[in-house]
Amino acid sequence: MTTIAIIGGTGLTNLETLDILRKEVLHTPFGEASGPVTHGRLAGKDVAFIARHGYGHTIPPHKVNYRANLWALKSVGATKVLAVAAVGAINRELTPGSLALPDQIIDYTYGRKQTYFEEDLDHVTHIDFTYPYSLDLRTTLVQAAKNSQISFYDGGTYGATQGPRLETAAEIQRMKKDGCDMVGMTGMPEAVLARELGLSYAAITVMANWAAGIEAGEITMEDIQANLSAGMGDVKKVIQQLMLLI
Ligand code: HPA
Repeated sequence: MTTIAIIGGTGLTNLETLDILRKEVLHTPFGEASGPVTHGRLAGKDVAFIARHGYGHTIPPHKVNYRANLWALKSVGATKVLAVAAVGAINRELTPGSLALPDQIIDYTYGRKQTYFEEDLDHVTHIDFTYPYSLDLRTTLVQAAKNSQISFYDGGTYGATQGPRLETAAEIQRMKKDGCDMVGMTGMPEAVLARELGLSYAAITVMANWAAGIEAGEITMEDIQANLSAGMGDVKKVIQQLMLLI
């Protein structure tokens, strides 16, 4: 029985450590997910995997059908969702290539479908989102990261931007003042939709680059790719350890 789902982000469209059993195409009331759900086994556990940007990495962050993705994962029986996401580092302690397990979110996105509670309602629903990452799953994830003997940052505020462009240096300075430690384009509405569906949700972020203006010069795709491939090795170690704890 699948209990854990993994949403792979940029740099993690495939999980080679997953023994693939089958792929399942799901049609949801909210449209198509980013691709089929891949069912497999990892460290003795059943896992459902989906590539957030599609298996060919063609869906940009603002076009991802987050509602369909989360719905699809719930409908295959997942109760826990681990999100992997590339981010830019704002906090100087988060060097490119390193990992963080964020514990807060500030949402700067707009125009995205960000709730399941908007049509055919019998009453207006306001879900609690004080702690946007599930405490239990995040605590287990921290333990898994410790067990993998990698260095990682425990906590941090994820600022979710609209994209697909990267930010200006001034936008990053504003986000820093707001308290953001890292910036990414997919953390919302993914986290809140998981909460609305009653799924446990936690994230591992990989520093792909220094956020705009933190260091002099432009951000290049080459640097992003190099840092992501360095960090994904550690992500896979943490996932392996997580499977032993859940
Ligand atoms: N900004 C927003 N999203 C990102 C970045 C960034 O600098 N790097 C990777 N994802």
